[in-house]
Amino acid sequence: MNEYRSLNPCCMLSPVPAVLVSCRAAPDARPNALTIAWAGTVCSHPPMVSVSIRPERYSYDLIAQSGEFVINMADAAHAKALDYCGIRSGRDEDKLAACGLTARPMPGMRTAPAIADMPASLGCRVTEMKPLGSHTLFLAEVVSVQVREDLFDADGSMHLERAGLICYSHGVYQRAEGVEGFFGWSVARPEVYRRRMVSYSSDRSDHS
Ligand SMILES: Cc1cc2nc3c(=O)[nH]c(=O)nc-3n(C[C@H](O)[C@H](O)[C@H](O)COP(=O)(O)O)c2cc1C
Repeated sequence: MNEYRSLNPCCMLSPVPAVLVSCRAAPDARPNALTIAWAGTVCSHPPMVSVSIRPERYSYDLIAQSGEFVINMADAAHAKALDYCGIRSGRDEDKLAACGLTARPMPGMRTAPAIADMPASLGCRVTEMKPLGSHTLFLAEVVSVQVREDLFDADGSMHLERAGLICYSHGVYQRAEGVEGFFGWSVARPEVYRRRMVSYSSDRSDHS
């Protein structure tokens, strides 16, 4: 049996998604984005997510006042921007311009833009704010979802696993890559398992 080392209680849950959350005070204001690792899915019906944000962040008031934000899921091409937007503040500079990012309209959002060319974006409407301590929990309903066209097969099936999404683990950004299985694979029939796994393979030449 392995031995274990006890650590002080801390937020060790890993890996977590590291996402770029975009927001804007008003439709004609300068858009901003901050990096969030404390984000999660909290309900399926209605679809709801949470983000935890420190009140001192510049984005905090933009989101609290507009009642909206967009979660943009990052890939490796956006990993550097993801870090930059988590280090610099929109209080001091136009971070989107500094990172070469472009804001684009997001369906269902009045003020919050999406970030162009990122793999997927979720338009979120705040339903509740709960101060917890260092962070305030924002609960939000997902009112729109957009996924980049190249992540769909000709038959319409979506392949987020091809996006190389970035996750965050104890201070390190990592690419989510390599498929070990799919929902229900532990009980799938062998032919179903084989057919499905081929569609997740990086070499899909044998997949019609
Ligand atoms: C990987 C990473 C994850 C972060 N996660 C959070 C988070 O979950 N909540 C938060 O309030 N700040 C988080 N931050 C810090 C903010 O993104 C950072 O303070 C940013 O500069 C705030 O931007 P703003 O002032 O333009 O809003 C994170 C930073 C990094 C690099």
